[in-house]
This record gives sequence, structure tokens and C-alpha cells, in this order.
Amino acid sequence: MNRSKITIVGAGNVGATTAHIAATKQLGDIVLLDIVKGLAEGKALDIAQAGHLQLYDCNIIGTTDWEKTRDSNIVIITSGMPRKPGMSRDDLLAKNLSIIKDVSEKIVRYCKNSIIIVVSNPLDAMVYAAARLTDFAKNKVIGMAGALDCARFSCLLASELGISAEDIKCVLMGGHGDDMVPLPRFTTVSGIPITELLDEKKINTLIERTRKGGIEIVNLLGSSAYYAPAAGLVKMADAILKDNKNVLSCCAYCDSQYNIGGYFIGVPAVLGKNGTEQIIELDFNKTEQAQFEKSLAHVKQLVAKVDKLL
Ligand code: LAC
Repeated sequence: MNRSKITIVGAGNVGATTAHIAATKQLGDIVLLDIVKGLAEGKALDIAQAGHLQLYDCNIIGTTDWEKTRDSNIVIITSGMPRKPGMSRDDLLAKNLSIIKDVSEKIVRYCKNSIIIVVSNPLDAMVYAAARLTDFAKNKVIGMAGALDCARFSCLLASELGISAEDIKCVLMGGHGDDMVPLPRFTTVSGIPITELLDEKKINTLIERTRKGGIEIVNLLGSSAYYAPAAGLVKMADAILKDNKNVLSCCAYCDSQYNIGGYFIGVPAVLGKNGTEQIIELDFNKTEQAQFEKSLAHVKQLVAKVDKLL
């Protein structure tokens, strides 16, 4: 059987951590790429050497040369400026768009049959930009945010309830911003909706902290999170490469679904070898509908800014 090939663009904290987790899971051969000479090479070498102790065996190389990425099955785009304290994800738009533009051109040239997973911010707009610039089928361009935001919400819920986070299944929709839409009605502890276990006020407090989960870490570290984002990326790559049909909240293209009308936004989706294989549609109540519409309006504004700049 051919081994999968995964390219990770950007050897910063998110990229390198993604490479390490992917290696420990033996997801395939890994190419870590960065424009800074030595950075990807050094980190790849370190990760390869850790394999002797952590008992994984995969080919991992670091490079500045796109030729080495040729014919990858998956390309994960982590490159871009991270947030600093005081910045919103939206403040990164113009700078990161120019990076996505360059990376997209390279992906078309070297990895035209790949599936792209984007994590650069502002997430929903950068996924749109990558899809527009590569002109790949829309099911093959996906953003990672829901897995991360669900992990944050689940972690808070587990700690509040004193139970294992493993038992929490969360649905979270909308854009990856302060108006993301965690859905308590559809979030369960081993099938029991959390609305049975916690009062509304407590749930709302945890939702607020989830929404601000990214900036909480930025304020502590002076830069953005990477362990949980990397874990989210690997979960998605695993679902695609192994054709698992996992249902994950992710930033996927929706047209008629939820009447979204042709935007990439966070929705529960089935991930398999074709990328986004199905969008799951839920019946919103009025509050959920209003929250989702607000988030979609924000995503539309960001997309309009991208269109203006391209
Ligand atoms: C965060 C970044 C990855 O939420 O957007 O931490």
C-alpha cells in the first residue's frame, strides 16, 4: 500500500506540533516546509530523532523546496502571522492573505490532487481565499476551527462536571470568531444533553469562555495556541486519509445547506477520502438561528474584504 504524504506548510509552533502529532500517529510521510532556511529542516530532524524514543517510524523531512511536496495527499496550511495580545483574528487578514496567495499558487503547481486544510486566520476568510485561488473542488478545501473550539468547550465542560472529556460530544457552528455558535442542545455527555446537567447561566459562562478561548491563550503566551490546534488538524487529516467518515465541526463549503448561499463556515460535516463528504443539517431554534445568522454575516464581511484585496 502506498503511504500517504502530508505536507505541512509553516514550521512555526502550529506546523511543527502538527508534524510531531502526525508522526506519533504514523499518519504517513511528512514534509514540513518553511520559507525560513533551516527552521523546517531542524524541526523535522528533531521530530525524526524523537521517533526512536517514542517508537514511531515515518519519513519526515524539512525543506524550503516545494518540489519535495510534490503529489502530497494532504496539504495543511499553518503559515501566517499569529495573533499578539490586543489583536483580533480579523487584524491578520491582509498580511495572511498575501501568504495564502503564494502558498495556493504553489499547491496548484505541486499538489494539484491534494486536499487542503487551512488553519491560518481569520480562518473562514482564509479557507475561502485558498479555495478561490486554487480553484479546487470545494469539498477539497476545509478549515480547522470547530475541532479546536469543540475541544475547548469540552475541556471546560469536563472540568465543570468532574467527568471525562472523552465522553463529551460537542456541536459548534459558525465562524471562528467571538460570535461562534456552540450548541448546548446538541452537546452531550455520553448521549445526555448538557442542558440536563447544567443550568443555562453556567452553560452561558462556559460558552463565553470558549468564544474567548483563543485570546485567553494569546494573553497568557503573548502568541497563539498550538497544541490543541495541531491536535485538531491531525484529527481531520486522519479522518480524510483513513476515510473514517468522522463527523467533525469544520469550516466547509455550504450552498443550499442552512441557506448559506456559497460560503465556507463552521458546520458539522462528514470527513472522508473526498474531504467534506456531507454537511449535516440541524433544525435550529430561534436563538440558534439568530446567532448563526450573526456569525454568517461576519464571515460574509470578511470574504468581501478578501475579494476586494484579490
Ligand atoms: C486559536 C487560533 C488558532 O483560536 O485561532 O487559538
